Amino acid sequence: MSNFKRYLVTAALPYANGPVHIGHLAGCYLPADIYVRYQRAQKRDIKFIGGSDEHGVPITIRAMKEGVSPQQIVDKYHALIKESFEQMGISFDIYSRTSNQVHHETAAAFFKKLYDDGLFEEKETEQFYDEKTNTFLADRYITGTCPICANPNAYGDQCERCGSSLSPEQLIHPRSTLSDAVPVKRKTKHWYFPLQNYEEWLKGWILEGHTEWKNNVYGQCKSWLDSGLQSRAMTRDSSWGVKVPLPDAEGKVLYVWFDAPIGYISATKELTETWADYWCKEDTKLVHFIGKDNIVFHCIIFPAMLQAHGGFVLPENVPANEFLNIEGDKVSTSRNWAVWVHEYIKDFPGCEDVLRYVLCSNAPETKDNDFTWKDFQDRNNSELVSIFGNFVNRAFVLMHKLCGGKVPPLHADVMDDTDKNMLAEFEAAKNRVEESIENFKFRDALFEVIDLARKGNKYMQEKEPWIVAKRLEADPAVQKLIDNCLHICLQLTANLAIMINPFLPATAKKMLHLMKVVEKMLDWENAGKTKLLSVGYSLRAPELLFRKIEDAEIEAQVTKLKAGLVKPAQPADTKTEAAKAADAQPDALKEQIVYDDFAKLDLRVGTIVAAEKVPKADKLLKLQVDLGFETRTIVSGIAEHFQPENITGKQVVVVANLAPRKMRGIESNGMILMAEDKAGKLHFVNPIDAIDNGSSVS
Ligand code: MF3
Ligand code: ZN
Repeated sequence: MSNFKRYLVTAALPYANGPVHIGHLAGCYLPADIYVRYQRAQKRDIKFIGGSDEHGVPITIRAMKEGVSPQQIVDKYHALIKESFEQMGISFDIYSRTSNQVHHETAAAFFKKLYDDGLFEEKETEQFYDEKTNTFLADRYITGTCPICANPNAYGDQCERCGSSLSPEQLIHPRSTLSDAVPVKRKTKHWYFPLQNYEEWLKGWILEGHTEWKNNVYGQCKSWLDSGLQSRAMTRDSSWGVKVPLPDAEGKVLYVWFDAPIGYISATKELTETWADYWCKEDTKLVHFIGKDNIVFHCIIFPAMLQAHGGFVLPENVPANEFLNIEGDKVSTSRNWAVWVHEYIKDFPGCEDVLRYVLCSNAPETKDNDFTWKDFQDRNNSELVSIFGNFVNRAFVLMHKLCGGKVPPLHADVMDDTDKNMLAEFEAAKNRVEESIENFKFRDALFEVIDLARKGNKYMQEKEPWIVAKRLEADPAVQKLIDNCLHICLQLTANLAIMINPFLPATAKKMLHLMKVVEKMLDWENAGKTKLLSVGYSLRAPELLFRKIEDAEIEAQVTKLKAGLVKPAQPADTKTEAAKAADAQPDALKEQIVYDDFAKLDLRVGTIVAAEKVPKADKLLKLQVDLGFETRTIVSGIAEHFQPENITGKQVVVVANLAPRKMRGIESNGMILMAEDKAGKLHFVNPIDAIDNGSSVS
């Protein structure tokens, strides 16, 4: 069906500066693994490449903070990450690391080729330098006060409080996060890759040639290409990384985003002598699985590098996922707001497939999604246990009870439409699963598999072999009906094993064990077939595939998550006077809350339909606010700022579920949101466009 002879699949190399969390899994490792397992079952020639990204500033910083060497950091996390992936069944053909010799050689040679071909621009610029630690500072490692919102801990590239993008020059009282030194400017020479020279080519290749890429990926590429590409420095001043292979480049290493993707090539070299077939032959299908923050590197920069170098295939697709939030809040490793994979494995031993299931069925394929422990429990209990597990279990229990523990024959003479329709579903489901996986729609594919099990349950419910069995004594011929039902249910079980295998490999294994068949049965060519288990073959006693997850387990996880939350590290003793002063300002941020705290508020849009002063109260106005479903009396402390006649007809935002409160004898039912400016003047907060009263705000 495709013209490709071989597949090369990569999953982003995670930085070896911390453990992996479930957002990493959902973002790229799980979809990549599903795709690869499916292709392997299709008997395609495929290599699945992974490894640790062990260079770059995050690693040196982490090392400096922990007072150890960068090598110690990457050794520790490489081992931990590798083990987590293995336990989760992420089936890399190789899980390598960019600190390997092969990689250093490969990346250096790649750079040298571009250099020798005259493709770099050499530029001397001024960069910030920390004289205490003798290091050039990446923008991220300079902090200072935000010129826009006065946040004393804004970064040199961005203020996380107000979201503005910044450059270090804009920071008030800049300081180095490494030492608190005031950064100074120093001249330094670097090699720049002129991306603009590849712009036209990229436009043709992506915008015209790859319109089939996922919308989120295509859209991001388009916006980068539309706003114009620029030269990017491909080297850095650092002692940690791949040394720049030039004579006058002491203290310089390759930029981590130059070397890391070359890591895919190095790892393939390490894996197989035939690596060049995968990387250089046009009939290879190269697919990069990544998270959305990696799109520009994999779709624009790396392909431009490959193109500049020549001789390499380009990615055929880059199916990037969006982000997975946790309990309504963005994952933050610094705040420890994450579900760590190695901890999950400890807390839920033997439930690796459950996590795979939940992360795939709720994968952020087209938009950011939310992982909640409640949803995890629901999906396990009401889908894996009640639909899939239940079907397989009933088929086995009934086969033992009513068919002597053997696969019963299929009697054509008593088959009805229900039987035939059920059998026809095997092939139909297989086709849908196949089509979805080939198109990187793993959620849809998994849904089809579960739906097939759901149909199995429905079929069994309609056939009721346990009821039919009651007629056996009077009419022994009904055994044929029982046989047919269980024959079909068992063949369906075999199909379910094949189709669930890419998603839940451990579960498929258990099913093979129950059916006493060899792994070969899981070959994809068997999917859709209706005669996988031979008549008369005796099968094992039923064993449950999944267990129920209890409320207490879920509550424990939520508690653990919330208890583990830490405020971002702020080296209190290194704060400048200005920073301290800014901290002391009255509008310093309130304590952090979780999404659930916010979700308790019921905010609604309403219109002030009447307003009058409250007698003998200088500050209060008594308002009538139309909320669409009712009109409320709300007493508001805004009389010093507004005349009643000027505010009727205004739309406002109301806290609609605030407990009623009496003010000057009037019961107030809610509160109106107001913004206060620096001068202390109040302003209404309202929707930009007039909208229906009662609309909720969140
Ligand atoms: N380490 C990077 C990250 O975690 C991903 C590197 S992918 C590679 O965002 F292609 F560069 F290897
Ligand atoms: Zn700011």
